[in-house]
Amino acid sequence: MEELKIKDGLNREDLYRELMPQIKALVEGEEDVTANLSNITAALKQAFGFFWVGFYLIKKGELVLGPFQGPVACTRIGYGKGVCGTAWKNKETIIVPEVDKFPGHIACNAASRSEIVVPVFKNEEVAMVLDIDSDRPDDFDDTDKKYLTELSELITSFL
Ligand code: SME
Repeated sequence: MEELKIKDGLNREDLYRELMPQIKALVEGEEDVTANLSNITAALKQAFGFFWVGFYLIKKGELVLGPFQGPVACTRIGYGKGVCGTAWKNKETIIVPEVDKFPGHIACNAASRSEIVVPVFKNEEVAMVLDIDSDRPDDFDDTDKKYLTELSELITSFL
């Protein structure tokens, strides 16, 4: 596998613009969902250096840890629980600037300071969530939401 080609000195928007076509190329032609989700987490971690990047997949009515990059994490999250379970329940992206201030936040790792969770849909229902944690407060904004929503739609296309 070729190294991801990310240039130095780019801001986050530039990085997403460079990364998205590379992710599309990575998943194109591969039908295995686990393989594609795994490479997506690696690409995001490699490009941005996020503390934790991973998927929680809906299985038998709860979220179960899927492909991820980063420290070991909680394996199961209930519907409506934590940021991930709330994004599932509300069917919408949640940006948490300061995790300590989100009621019910599930702390898998004390180093996590801010978080974004983006639902991925299959047949109009949430099939999984993409969770990204940063060790810096207030690390996510509408730029992340915009490109990660685009990524979520790309994932839907191969589910
Ligand atoms: N903080 C998440 C749990 C998952 S870990 O961050 C990897 C939550 O509150 O749902």
